[in-house]
Amino acid sequence: MTSDYSSDQAIVRLDGVHKSYGDPVALNGVSLGIRAGEAVAVMGPSGCGKSTLLNMIAGLDRPTSGTVTVHGEDLGELNETGLALFRRRRIGMIFQFFNLVDDLPALDNVALAAQLTGAPTSQARKRALELLDELGVAEQRDSYPATLSGGQRQRVAVARALMNRPVLLLADEPTGALDSRSGEQVMDLLIDLNQMGQTLLMVTHDPRLARRCASRLIEFADGRVVRESTLERAA
Ligand SMILES: Nc1ncnc2c1ncn2[C@@H]1O[C@H](COP(=O)(O)OP(=O)(O)O)[C@@H](O)[C@H]1O
Ligand SMILES: [Mg+2]
Repeated sequence: MTSDYSSDQAIVRLDGVHKSYGDPVALNGVSLGIRAGEAVAVMGPSGCGKSTLLNMIAGLDRPTSGTVTVHGEDLGELNETGLALFRRRRIGMIFQFFNLVDDLPALDNVALAAQLTGAPTSQARKRALELLDELGVAEQRDSYPATLSGGQRQRVAVARALMNRPVLLLADEPTGALDSRSGEQVMDLLIDLNQMGQTLLMVTHDPRLARRCASRLIEFADGRVVRESTLERAA
């Protein structure tokens, strides 16, 4: 039932992580590991702490106690600036509602991720366009998010997440706001990325998505891991 997260290959390691926002407790003693190249799905009822888990790993928020180590870096040892740099350089994140910047065209949304790390504009825009092209939304480069379909928005968001070649891609219900066809396409995209070596941790309500995309399932309830299992990936 427990995973071998003592491996040197572990890209993410949580030890005894608690997170409380007062009452209730969002995470109640979580220890888990994710190895390089894995695709791991997290499932569990609404409010059980899944987004909080991702936010801890992304360095968007800090645990009340316990340690989070990502890519050899103990996030608790980083100050706010260090944490922001860590997040920009090491983590790519996609969300149910895309979280794109509404008043920037697609290309600028993607390029911004690199510009925030200090990359020259021309270089950032060049890579952004390459990624939009790879993800099938190059034609939408000058379009504003509001004019894009949900599926197109999520592709732009995936491009943005990949911009800085993150060690870890976090996806929080990435198909939750999409119709089934766009959802399938985003799903296929995540599978392709993982097969190219991208380590992936995703939260989903959709058992089919978990089965198709992930090699391991972590089930959460009430802020704890209640079950871990290996999945036979569906073809
Ligand atoms: N920023 C926050 N402030 C206060 N409470 C929060 C915050 N984020 C999450 N919570 C609470 O923590 C618990 C877990 O939330 P969350 O991680 O969003 O669950 P899930 O993603 O599994 O639906 C919930 O009770 C939620 O209300
Ligand atoms: Mg959530």
